[in-house]
Amino acid sequence: MRGRVVGTGSAVPEKILTNFDIEKLVDTNDEWIRTRTGIRERRIAGEGEYTSTFATIAAKKAMEMAEILASEIDLIIVATVTPDFPFPGTSCLVQDSINAVNATAFDISAACSGFIYGLSIADKYIKTGAIKNALVIGGEVLSKITDWSDRNTCALFGDGAGAVVLSAESGSRGILETFHKSDGSKWELLYQPAAGIRNPVTQKVIDERLMYINMQGNEVFKLAVKAMEEAAVKVLKASSMTIEDVDLFIPHQANLRIIDAVARRLGVPSEKVYINIDHYGNTSAGSIPIALDEANRKGIIKEGNNIILDAFGGGLTWGAVSICW
Ligand code: UT7
Repeated sequence: MRGRVVGTGSAVPEKILTNFDIEKLVDTNDEWIRTRTGIRERRIAGEGEYTSTFATIAAKKAMEMAEILASEIDLIIVATVTPDFPFPGTSCLVQDSINAVNATAFDISAACSGFIYGLSIADKYIKTGAIKNALVIGGEVLSKITDWSDRNTCALFGDGAGAVVLSAESGSRGILETFHKSDGSKWELLYQPAAGIRNPVTQKVIDERLMYINMQGNEVFKLAVKAMEEAAVKVLKASSMTIEDVDLFIPHQANLRIIDAVARRLGVPSEKVYINIDHYGNTSAGSIPIALDEANRKGIIKEGNNIILDAFGGGLTWGAVSICW
């Protein structure tokens, strides 16, 4: 038995914030943002829209495609660093919204690699025979933890969620191999300093703007390229595949220059690399499932295609998944 992706879905806010809009907030310009990151615009959650909002819509779309009832879902995993509440998990809110009464639900926090971790966990539940159907969701509302006065970070992030339904199947199609790894010694390179219990929100925290994403971008950039290459190589090898066997490479959308560098190192031709960072920016755990759903709905992915998903994020965390579609 292995987990096969039988449905995908995604949801992003309607509100678009362009680079020209960001020019009005900080000392930056469209040309810098486009050439340094590949981003042209991003989606920003409106009033009353939370991570659970987009996660729920994405989940419903994935279940509709899978033609599966909510009551048939055994496991719901939401990967996010922007949960609606510290607890309960956003996964429990999604469970409630879709009425998945027979599921167990929990969140995982692995930053931009969260969806990869979630797929790996769900696949292992399936492989042990513990469950039949899982909803794996990655979603964020990063705009709420973005410092809109910091030009080093505010142009990078966006909001949205993506989801897949994984179902137990025998045969050659489905998740082939997963790999993920962490390096906790570098946690300070990318983190949210306050709003957890170490630094609860106080006036001092607000004055020092500690509740916003803090990133040493340049360091993260270099490590991301190496780690994403490592992860992709690991799953290719474990799947007995070479890069020539890969039909579509879907990397985490953090920076177009990172994507290009990883693809170059791996030898993936650009036409096999899925890119949508220009429209959404970095949606952290949402980025890969949103891209996967877009590629699927556009008909880019065909039955039997070999797909590699590859991510890197705060933690540090990284990982990859190989799928035969
Ligand atoms: O999601 C997973 C984790 N995240 C990532 O993988 C992100 C990784 N990092 C990056 O994508 C890039 O490092 C950034 C896009 C964040 C920055 O690009 P960079 O080429 O690494 O630039 P830098 O940080 O080395 O900064 C170069 C200059 C600096 O000016 P000085 O000190 O040289 O005068 C920055 O202040 O660019 C400046 N800068 C900007 N200028 C205009 C930084 N942000 C901006 C901006 N507009 N928005």
